[in-house]
Amino acid sequence: MIYSRIAGTGSYLPEKVVTNSDLEKIVDTTDQWIQDRTGIKKRHIAADGETTCDLAEKASRNALEAAGITASEIDLVIVATTTPDLIFPSTACLLQQRLGIAGPTAFDIQAVCTGFVYALSIAEKFIKSGSHKRALVVGAETLSRIIDWSDRNTCVLFGDGAGAVIVEASDEPGIIASHLHADGAYESLLRVPVGVSSGFEQMIRGEGYVEMKGSEVFKMAVTTLGRIVDETLASTGLQKSDIDWLIPHQANIRIIKATAKKLRTPMDRVVVTVHDHGNTSAASIPLAFDTAVRDGRIKRGEILMMEAFGGGFTWGSVLLKY
Ligand code: ACO
Repeated sequence: MIYSRIAGTGSYLPEKVVTNSDLEKIVDTTDQWIQDRTGIKKRHIAADGETTCDLAEKASRNALEAAGITASEIDLVIVATTTPDLIFPSTACLLQQRLGIAGPTAFDIQAVCTGFVYALSIAEKFIKSGSHKRALVVGAETLSRIIDWSDRNTCVLFGDGAGAVIVEASDEPGIIASHLHADGAYESLLRVPVGVSSGFEQMIRGEGYVEMKGSEVFKMAVTTLGRIVDETLASTGLQKSDIDWLIPHQANIRIIKATAKKLRTPMDRVVVTVHDHGNTSAASIPLAFDTAVRDGRIKRGEILMMEAFGGGFTWGSVLLKY
């Protein structure tokens, strides 16, 4: 059996920090409302000209260093993003060029906030098949570029950043199980209503931003995240009590707490970064993962449950032994 083991993690946040007080100056909101309703205190925002690939490159170099390998040892690059630098080439190809590694398989995955979970699960399937040995899996976003900064319903929620992991073939687990789901019927609750083959004129005029029916999304997220964790545990025979760390998508502290409660996981076993990063979509889980690895909370041999819910709707989980 070929397992996929996490060999190293990395992350990067843009230098510019925007606090809730900064947002009070541009929309009708308060620090108190944002903290009470979301848990967010601040978020990082990419500088003018700083792109998703710039963030992805820095996170990737940190992950390569942590794994003690060079980029030339990578044979698969997957970037999860909803905010690619260009329509094409993919951000994965741009990243591959930056890292100076011509040849390896490289592609982007678009599953919004579930993007990293999708990408990690796909990398595991490539490695398990024996076709690839070492993958660079990145979640990177510049969500700030598709936010209407005059809309208080959405602009207080999101931030920019990138997280990366190196996944390699191993005799030992490794990724134990992953589950991926989607239901396109809920498109109208969470979307950016412009794209290439529809609304392109609007898009190039700089119109078309994240639209969200927040409370409907909230309810769906809480119900769905509890279910996906149960599904994943049931497929492995592991119990809720076997999970050492829950690493949830960081959208809202109330969603995170509700999911932890369903799992009967105490909050001191849940990695929370939403207060510092906001919702960084596909970057949020690898950012939280790297934060808790680097500050010494997550240790080798521990069981981690990652779970996410986002636009699509998409949702999924990865259970792994670190
Ligand atoms: N400051 C002050 N008041 C605000 C703000 C703000 N920034 N934003 C909204 N309000 C107001 C609303 O206008 C509304 O006022 P009204 O009652 O007079 O109409 C009131 O606050 C309550 O609004 P709700 O939407 O009911 O507030 P809720 O408690 O649901 O919190 C939130 C809103 C934070 C958006 C929450 O619904 C949420 O987190 N939803 C889920 C987000 C999520 O998980 N998204 C999935 C991933 S994102 C992705 O995939 C890209």
